[in-house]
Amino acid sequence: MSESKVVVITGSATGLGRSLAIKMAEQGYRLVLVDFNEAAGAETLEAAKAHGAEAIFVKADVSSEADVQNYVKQAVEAFGKIDMFVNNAGIMIPMRLLHEYESNEFDRLIGVNFKGAFLGLKYVIPVMIENGGGSIVNTVSSNSFKPTAYNGLYSATKHALAALTKSIGQDYQDLNVYAVGVAPNTMKTNIGASAVTTLTEDRLAKLIASTGPNNAATPEEIADVVIFALTTGAVMLNGTVVNCAGGQIYQ
Ligand SMILES: NC(=O)c1ccc[n+]([C@@H]2O[C@H](COP(=O)([O-])OP(=O)(O)OC[C@H]3O[C@@H](n4cnc5c(N)ncnc54)[C@H](O)[C@@H]3O)[C@@H](O)[C@H]2O)c1
Repeated sequence: MSESKVVVITGSATGLGRSLAIKMAEQGYRLVLVDFNEAAGAETLEAAKAHGAEAIFVKADVSSEADVQNYVKQAVEAFGKIDMFVNNAGIMIPMRLLHEYESNEFDRLIGVNFKGAFLGLKYVIPVMIENGGGSIVNTVSSNSFKPTAYNGLYSATKHALAALTKSIGQDYQDLNVYAVGVAPNTMKTNIGASAVTTLTEDRLAKLIASTGPNNAATPEEIADVVIFALTTGAVMLNGTVVNCAGGQIYQ
């Protein structure tokens, strides 16, 4: 690589974001690591630096417009440009039937998974355009194709983010900005641990049945797909959602 590409990864403190940061550090990218979990974010930063990467960590709540503006500003101040953006921060909330959700749970989920992702795009894309283009991965979900049981609001946010991915594919081709949705199904992270605590045995059984057979992924396996989507695959996969369900067919 003649000049190291600069990648911004949100939700990089744990799970997929951390695995991706470490893999991209090994591959020589310069990293801007974003998360609201400062302690775990600092561990990811150390791990990235241990692999020889130039990297910074910026504490940000992605649902805050001021925080998003700040991480973009810090990225440009540190490295002068953004070549790649991984819009990955996300949450699940305790799983219920739709009418059982509180409206403040709706606001929180939409705020992080959808508005947070939109704000990232809003402030990163102009930096990419000024630099001649860039590639984006939005971390969506098998819930972007089909909701699992008791997961209606989360699924709605991931459908919405898949729609933004398609819109980028449609709108930005002549500006050299490309976006791919990467959709894990069952990925071995802790995101769902507290979400399932609301489920009775009956509801848990229904949730499992609605998920269908698939090969559970490690975050490292999904990180490899993200890197392909950001690099070799960016132009031809532009505007699509890549189903990473390990054999479960959704499309
Ligand atoms: N694990 C799965 O089975 C699965 C399946 C499909 C999609 N996903 C998606 O993958 C992405 C990564 O999740 P993961 O499974 O690695 O879980 P994770 O909980 O380990 O990672 C999510 C990261 O986002 C950060 N985050 C959450 N809210 C934030 C906020 N407001 N501001 C900044 N950072 C915030 C967390 O601190 C964490 O570091 C998410 O978008 C998730 O919806 C996960």
